[in-house]
Amino acid sequence: MKTRITELFGIQHPIIQGGMHFVGFASLAAAVSNAGGLGVITGLTQRSPKDLANEIAKCRDLTDKPFGVNLTFLPTVSSPDYPGYIKAIIEGGVRIVETAGRSPEAYMPALKEHGVKVIHKCTSVRHALKAEKIGCDAVSVDGFECGGHPGEDDIPNMILLPRAAEELKIPFVASGGMADARSLVASLALGAEGMNMGTRFIATQEAPVHENVKKAIVAASELDTRLVMRSLRNTERVLNNTAVEKILQKEAALGKDLKFEDIIEEVAGVYPRIMLEGDMDAGAWSCGMVAGLIHDIPTCKELIDRIMSEAEQLISKRLVGLL
Ligand SMILES: Cc1cc2nc3c(=O)[nH]c(=O)nc-3n(C[C@H](O)[C@H](O)[C@H](O)COP(=O)(O)O)c2cc1C
Repeated sequence: MKTRITELFGIQHPIIQGGMHFVGFASLAAAVSNAGGLGVITGLTQRSPKDLANEIAKCRDLTDKPFGVNLTFLPTVSSPDYPGYIKAIIEGGVRIVETAGRSPEAYMPALKEHGVKVIHKCTSVRHALKAEKIGCDAVSVDGFECGGHPGEDDIPNMILLPRAAEELKIPFVASGGMADARSLVASLALGAEGMNMGTRFIATQEAPVHENVKKAIVAASELDTRLVMRSLRNTERVLNNTAVEKILQKEAALGKDLKFEDIIEEVAGVYPRIMLEGDMDAGAWSCGMVAGLIHDIPTCKELIDRIMSEAEQLISKRLVGLL
């Protein structure tokens, strides 16, 4: 399948693995890229630019296909060493960066000067238009369904994607709630040039996370996610567990007076305990409603091959057959 996204990134299939904290290590990124999609290393999971450089080198040993690095611009006062991470990306010969969070505007000149293609993840049409204006090559349009941070507008992809198609000139992929061939074909119909998946890629053989995490996703239904941190305007969709119940109780009790410090125990630094040790109640961790559509733990190649062959069937048999 050829789309503006496969052409832009030089990949075989229009499927991207979004950056995921403590999931997007070299092993997963390489597995996705080797399967013909675009694998993405999560930059900030690496403690320093030097660690990111090592992870990039590891990924290069595992694949000769294109892969990207995610750089999430956090809304924090003490910011990570972004210039250092960007230097590691450029010196590591990475040609694709997935940015997310705040606008990547300040770093666009450095990235563009070195021929890096930038795909910015946004949860609204206005942010997507801003990304287009500052020179991003593509956007990943992340609907309300998504695992992680859906923004504060709460617009699901059935509306958000066609709205993006109405406004954007640069290509975009559909993100949030994507799991299978139906997701891909629907995304294409709504105007996207491919899809980005997060939660679905955690439940794969190569995802370097504890088996408990994969099993929790397979066991979960579409009813099992919750939104936390809304009053902090840092809304996150997470899988429900005892820590999330605690956060929700505190949010209900404190309302607008809630401060980050009130929930710090349930949200700060919990990812290694969950993803690496499999302590499933250690804190809140991002997970999409799409868990309800995830019933197995295939290899990345099995997953991507299945999506592409079923998409072809869907288009050439079911859809054409309706005409
Ligand atoms: C466990 C987890 C961690 C994530 N961490 C990040 C991150 O660090 N940076 C980022 O830009 N997006 C992050 N995301 C969002 C994904 O890249 C992707 O946009 C999202 O998962 C898409 O929705 P889906 O889960 O329904 O596929 C994360 C998602 C999950 C599930």
